[in-house]
Parts: sequence; C-alpha cells; structure tokens
Amino acid sequence: MNERPGVFITLEGGEGAGKSTAALRLTALLREAGQEVLATREPGGTPGAEAIRALLLSSDTALTAMTQTMLHFAARADHVEQVIRPALARGAVVICDRYSDSTMAYQAYGMGVDISAVAALTRLIGLTPDITFVLEVPEAISKARLKSRGAASDRYEQMGREVMDRIAQGFRAIAAAEPARCVVLDGTEPVETVVGRMRDIILERTGR
Ligand code: TMP
Repeated sequence: MNERPGVFITLEGGEGAGKSTAALRLTALLREAGQEVLATREPGGTPGAEAIRALLLSSDTALTAMTQTMLHFAARADHVEQVIRPALARGAVVICDRYSDSTMAYQAYGMGVDISAVAALTRLIGLTPDITFVLEVPEAISKARLKSRGAASDRYEQMGREVMDRIAQGFRAIAAAEPARCVVLDGTEPVETVVGRMRDIILERTGR
C-alpha cells in the first residue's frame, strides 16, 4: 500500500466506454458517504493542462505521435504536482478520468510510440494509482455512443478502426500485466451496476 493518506483512483478505457458518467456517479456516491472527493480528468485538471488539452484535441494542428506523448505528459506533470498530490496529501479520494494508461494505450499501442519511452515518462511522473478501473465496450457500442453525443469529433475520435482495435488491445495488456492495480469492468452493463462494483472494490481494498 502507499504511504499517502488519500486514495488515487483512475478510470480508463476507449472512446464511449462510459467513464465520464461513471466518474460523476462514483463521485456523488462517495461524497454522500461523507468523503472528500476530488474529481478531475486528463488531459486537463489545471489551467495549463487544460490549455494543452485544447491543443491536443483540436484536429487543426498536425502533431506527431511523439509530440502528443510529450504534451500528454507535460499536462500530467502540471496536474499531478498542482492538484493530485496535494489532494492525496490532505487525505482526499482522487477520481481521475484517464491517466498514464491512456498514453500507453493510445500513443504507444495505438499510434506506435515506443512502449519503453512511455513507461519511462510514466516513471518520471512517479505517481501510480491505487486502483484503476478499465471499462471495456465492444467497438459497435463505442461508435454508437460517440455518434449519439453529436459533438464535432476531435483528433482522437477521428481515428480509424485498426488504431481503435490496438488501443483496446493495449488496455487489455495493461490490465493483464498489473492485476493488483487494474480491474476490468464491463462497460455495457447499466452505469449503476458498474458504479456499484467500483464502490465495493474501493471499500474492500482501501476501507474508504
Ligand atoms: P476524453 O474524451 O476521455 O476526455 O479524453 C480525451 C481524448 O484524449 C481521448 O480521445 C483519449 C485521448 N488521450 C490520449 O490519447 N492520451 C492520453 O494520455 C490521454 C490522457 C487521453
């Protein structure tokens, strides 16, 4: 177990896996139980990281996969130092919608950046989640959910099927390699069921 007083929980998965809705509900559930919860997201979570997010998501500017990797980690460094570590130090539960596993899945597995380079940058950040929930959904559902959002698609929503497949495979490989940290959940289940499972696992593993 970590020495820090807080608990660091991350939610991961491909597009339209239901992470953001699950994060909202989980936050509400923990707050109702009287816990201090910091709900945040990546890329983002600080003014600087949100500015980097705008650059990363906009499809107006071409960026190489390595450039995107460095920008994701630049945003993460700001977020971890300014927001996540202080919250953990004061004992909060931090729920972060995406974190380093997304860089490993999207930029390394999906876009071909060297896995060991992403692993090295992950070590440089030096903060590992206590629990990572990986939401899995079949591609057809992920596509349908994206479509129903109706928003203009960003850089990552424009990726082709092969890249999406490799990203999904990346998340499975990450979860298989770190079973003590990662819990794979079925994102096709109703959100209440998914969040109920998360709540049980958090209580079981951390007592929070
Ligand atoms: P969101 O749609 O979950 O808000 O995430 C923004 C997009 O950024 C999503 O398509 C996944 C992508 N992403 C990466 O490619 N690498 C990363 O490290 C992170 C955090 C997100």
